[in-house]
Amino acid sequence: MPRASGCPLDPAPELAELQERAPLVRVRLWDGSTPWLVTRHAEQCALLSDRRVSADWMQPGYPFHTRFLRDHHSEGQFLTAMEGPEHLRLRRMIARPFTPRMVEKLRPTIEQIVDDRIDALLAGPEPADFVSEFALPIPSRVICHVLGVPYQHHDFFHRAIRAVTESDVPAEVASKSERELYHYLAKLIGHKLAHPDDGLLSQLATERLATGQLNRHELVMLVLFLLISGHETTASMIALGTLALLLHPDQIAVLRDADETGVAGAVDELLRYLTTVQPGRRRVAVEDIEIAGQLIRAGEGLILPEEIGNRDESVFPDPETLDLRRDAGRHLAFGFGVHKCTGQPLARLELQVVFTALFRRIPTLALAVDPDDLPFMDDGLGYGLKGMPVSW
Ligand code: HEM
Repeated sequence: MPRASGCPLDPAPELAELQERAPLVRVRLWDGSTPWLVTRHAEQCALLSDRRVSADWMQPGYPFHTRFLRDHHSEGQFLTAMEGPEHLRLRRMIARPFTPRMVEKLRPTIEQIVDDRIDALLAGPEPADFVSEFALPIPSRVICHVLGVPYQHHDFFHRAIRAVTESDVPAEVASKSERELYHYLAKLIGHKLAHPDDGLLSQLATERLATGQLNRHELVMLVLFLLISGHETTASMIALGTLALLLHPDQIAVLRDADETGVAGAVDELLRYLTTVQPGRRRVAVEDIEIAGQLIRAGEGLILPEEIGNRDESVFPDPETLDLRRDAGRHLAFGFGVHKCTGQPLARLELQVVFTALFRRIPTLALAVDPDDLPFMDDGLGYGLKGMPVSW
């Protein structure tokens, strides 16, 4: 569903209309299937935490985003597509570096990375592309640091990740890129076993692979998923969050006056308002479920677009307004239930550091083009900006 022209930060108007009409409606997907679209916050939370609802894309009726994902889903499972004890086992293995306590230890490193990127931006030509010069390199450097993946290979893995996650890439190109990423990580694991370091990849290789708790395929898929998750999601939030603030200068003032708790709340509101992970969580009912006066039958697909749940006025009064002082704590931008984002403390801290430093160090930051001319990215597994020329 396309967004309305002139309103690039608001969800598609059809979604708001559907939300008003009913909590659950039938929609037609690219492959002709007709899953349920869940429009409201309460039903989205209820279904995302219901054990009769599965994220397992091997289950018949799963509503795939793209043809590529449908045709290649048996090649290797990602964490988000697993359920039950298997999911919990792997989720626990990667949890440690993403706990708030461990993430807080990364604060000086993240502050240094952000400061370096601001220095580089200011030293470079004007206008500059905010996305390639700032929004993308920051999460990329951070996740490389956490995992122990060499940042100097970022051109390669970033291009390959784009090919795997964007829906308009030819299937053979996406498939080739996925294989290249897989082999790259498999080789890196071999290297880490011989030369261990402090990164998560090394830790998993020496403590879990070498002891037989993980096999090599599971380890590659886990790290591949983390590499993908750690990049585009946070980069999109940095770029779109900056755009949202530039379009609402009164909110930049709120952010500047905020203390640490205020900045954390402001980031939650930006996450709610922008909800960049799209187009919706995908699930399938594995038993019959009655909800909001509807019967969802076992085998029927579910799409839960958080971008519209996050604009539900029964939870967020005046939802179309970006208000950095509001309590947006119940937003669903990181998902809900057992699959809720493992990396959220890291993403939150990155965003807090970025928005604090950016507007303090570059108070004159401005768009160098008309907002209507910005190229938005809406064909992948997330919403974002392909580029954003800025000056200062
Ligand atoms: C602003 C940035 C981010 C956003 C908006 C975001 C959003 C999400 C969402 C919506 C989910 C739920 C998927 C589902 O239920 O199907 C998720 C899961 C996940 N995210 Fe994030 N994410 C972000 C950053 C990160 C980062 C930095 C990492 C760490 C590398 C990360 C790692 C994960 C993992 C491992 C899962 C899977 C959890 C599971 O299935 O148990 N994310 N994320």
